[in-house]
Amino acid sequence: MKEVKYEGMTFVPYISREEIDARIKQLGKEITRECAGKSPLFLCVLNGAFPFASDLFRASEGIDGEISFIRLKSYEGTSSTGNVRQMMGCETDLEGRTVIIVEDIVDTGNTIFNLIETLKEKHPAEIKIATLLFKPDALVKPVSPDYVGFSIPQKFIIGFGLDINEKARDLNDIYVLKD
Ligand code: IMP
Ligand code: MG
Repeated sequence: MKEVKYEGMTFVPYISREEIDARIKQLGKEITRECAGKSPLFLCVLNGAFPFASDLFRASEGIDGEISFIRLKSYEGTSSTGNVRQMMGCETDLEGRTVIIVEDIVDTGNTIFNLIETLKEKHPAEIKIATLLFKPDALVKPVSPDYVGFSIPQKFIIGFGLDINEKARDLNDIYVLKD
């Protein structure tokens, strides 16, 4: 892994693909143990969460899960706009179901908080949150993720689905903005 550059900014290696893989396997085991018999619906928040959701869903093999997708947008460049737009809705019937929201990162918590409020109108039995990354110090909304890959400081990161203006999602490892 070496430094990468996007939009004139330099990013340095932060979390390796191997560490990500190992952590997702552990989370899959936890979900398998805690959601057995519930046929949970994994709700992948596009665009950023798709690599994580793909790996997490398959790491939870055998619990009779289903996967569905929703598309939200709140970030412009390197900061949250606080204004969450739903670009693609969820068509699946959530009534009485266990829903596991799968996010790439929980930063201010605005996105997930708004999403939870919207999903509650569809009367799921319970809503859980799985996020690959969590910035606890940036949180401004009362949300507490159930499954967290890595808790990280308030720094801007890219790779493994996370973007800088839609670029860098293809990086297999996670990189952090160089100070
Ligand atoms: P929140 O609404 O502030 O919690 O932001 C959540 C969304 O912002 C995530 O789903 C990401 O798409 C994006 N985001 C937050 N932090 C970062 C980051 O460090 N890098 C890239 N995207 C981020
Ligand atoms: Mg996202």
